[in-house]
Amino acid sequence: MHSQVRLHADYGGVVPELASRDHVRRLLPLLREVLRGSGRRIDEVSLVAYTRGPGLGGALLVGASIASGLALALGCPVVGIHHLEGHLLSPLLAEPRPQFPFVALLVSGGHTQLMRVDGVGRYALLGETQDDAAGEAFDKTATVLGLEYPGGPALARLAENGDPARHALPRPMIASGDLDFSFSGLKTAVLTRVRELGALGEAARADLAAAVQAAGVDELAEQCRRELAREGLEGLVVAGGVGANAALRERLAREAHAMGGEVWFPPLRLCTDNGAMIAFAAALKYADRGPESIVDEFSVLPRWDLAAAAREAQSTPRR
Ligand code: KG4
Ligand code: ZN
Repeated sequence: MHSQVRLHADYGGVVPELASRDHVRRLLPLLREVLRGSGRRIDEVSLVAYTRGPGLGGALLVGASIASGLALALGCPVVGIHHLEGHLLSPLLAEPRPQFPFVALLVSGGHTQLMRVDGVGRYALLGETQDDAAGEAFDKTATVLGLEYPGGPALARLAENGDPARHALPRPMIASGDLDFSFSGLKTAVLTRVRELGALGEAARADLAAAVQAAGVDELAEQCRRELAREGLEGLVVAGGVGANAALRERLAREAHAMGGEVWFPPLRLCTDNGAMIAFAAALKYADRGPESIVDEFSVLPRWDLAAAAREAQSTPRR
């Protein structure tokens, strides 16, 4: 993994053109470094996988181009993987492995979804955010509180010293009984509160951070609990960058335990975006197929619905 956090920090968010140009510069040196560290030779590679989407078109094209060029040079097949499928299957990279079927909570900067996972490639959408993603809500409120990009981890650190009960912030979907999520009200409520309070000292900022985290965690945990009960499942898998949040981990572990269930988190370094999860998803999907049976892919899909893609794949016979 090469992080572009410092490249984008000055702008308070990802600048698409800077991201893709930096990918062009970084990818091949990074690939060489990874190979050196793994003790493997490039000609041992039997399948090349890249992120096909969803994401920024320019950044996806850089990955697809390099993957395809590499596969052509190596004489091996190349496949495009759904970014969220990588996150979804990443807990299987660690021991003990979760057993299918399970409910997966995907929480990142761009997505907040609950999925039912019956096996590799067998995903059904149970609920999703109606507006902002949970990570996006954390990032935006962090900005309001004057924290550095990306705000999620900084917000979590600030929250450690705050009192979550000092401010009552909205948890809209818990009240409505709905099975989706909504986080845009959280950011607006914090913005309003900050305007009312005026200049904020460290303790006041910590209280707000703690309240935001508590509201976000409450809403995520309650919807997980409801979906597990509704699906009659006991296993919950948490994936995506927000899965690194310690308060969320602790709460979900407690919740699952109370239901007689179990919760799995990928190791922290696999929670945030990384290349290993994409390679691993491809290995799981294609391990049982000979190279001749794999159809090479070169396409990027900046907007790509995982549940719809899974439905389609199940209704079309393998070539
Ligand atoms: O999955 P990810 O690495 O990238 C994508 O969005 O695809 O997730 C990044 C998100 C950001 O919104 C970041 O602020 C959030 O995960 N995040 C956290 C924590 N670590 C990362 N949010 C809350 N607490 C954390 N410890
Ligand atoms: Zn991600």
